[in-house]
Amino acid sequence: MREERAARGGPAILDAQTVWNQRHVLDLDDFSLGEIQAIMETADAMKEVLSREVPRVPALRGKTLITLFYETSTRTRTSFELAAKALGADVISIAAAASSVQKGESLIDTVRTIQALGAQVLVIRHSSSGAPYLVARHTEMNVINAGDGWHAHPTQGLLDLYTMRLHLGDLRGKRVVIVGDIAHSRVARSDIWGLSTMGAEVVVCGPPTLLPYGVRPGGRDGEHPLALPPVEVENDLDRALEGADVVMALRLQKERMAGGLLPSLREYARLYQVNEERLARARPGALVMHPGPMNEGVEISPAVARSAQSVIEEQVTNGVAVRMAVLYLLARGKPRHRSMNAAASRSSRQDAPPFRLGWRTSP
Ligand code: CP
Repeated sequence: MREERAARGGPAILDAQTVWNQRHVLDLDDFSLGEIQAIMETADAMKEVLSREVPRVPALRGKTLITLFYETSTRTRTSFELAAKALGADVISIAAAASSVQKGESLIDTVRTIQALGAQVLVIRHSSSGAPYLVARHTEMNVINAGDGWHAHPTQGLLDLYTMRLHLGDLRGKRVVIVGDIAHSRVARSDIWGLSTMGAEVVVCGPPTLLPYGVRPGGRDGEHPLALPPVEVENDLDRALEGADVVMALRLQKERMAGGLLPSLREYARLYQVNEERLARARPGALVMHPGPMNEGVEISPAVARSAQSVIEEQVTNGVAVRMAVLYLLARGKPRHRSMNAAASRSSRQDAPPFRLGWRTSP
């Protein structure tokens, strides 16, 4: 029954608690369709909360969330802070550059220190792929990966899915073209996992030097641990865009130029920039997306970035509701011995799910 509802475009939000089985959010490769749908449905409820005059609910009151960022961030860190505050949590932000990390403290010691200070949720960004997995093995806190190296950025993937779903509904069969530096993009990897689980048709496009090992046309390389789900690989952007429902440009990481992976920025822009002429090949009204930060004039033209088809700023806005949903589901954990009827009967209690309680009063 639940799977039937999920296949039609989403389970009822009560099901969110029954399908949720995650203690951490490290990537989307181990998320079921039901879990992704649970986040989407819960984010809808959080969007409603955010639309209120006082956008606050007490779901995480008494909990402490710490963001620990070893890399810079504007969107991710800020939206996690806003999300946690909207749910009533206490929030502390630590920039590694201004912490005892500079005195040589190890990652694990830093995390243990944060746990000893009483935090329940840790949001971590690190330049090393896999760092959040290491952390998750050494802490009782819920760990959320806010971007690790080239590996994963699951909440960016979720907000991308959410934004697509708001505009396109069911993503099954939708043609999503991701163009640019796929090889060094943690966003692309998480998007590919999430989109594949949602049944979208994923096309990756870029110069061969910027496509990662795990991406192979037509199927998973089952023997390789970095293998991704099957995607279409297209080096020609004009061909890739034919019939696209979504075009997502990725930041060209200019530092890659030093590695000799690209001849020049001008050459890259000539072949791979999403501009008005190229966008005309996609379906009318196709969504234009970008996880940010953008290099306007390189991977995307200013006119397209600001066009009516662009939902780039909406992605940022939706990130707050989606991160609220992630925090809410993580904080509630996997329910045990809970039936839908039992959950429904608690609708007047403060710990009931958001759509039931209504959360009309702010804390
Ligand atoms: N998309 C993204 O992760 O942006 P920030 O680096 O600003 O967090």
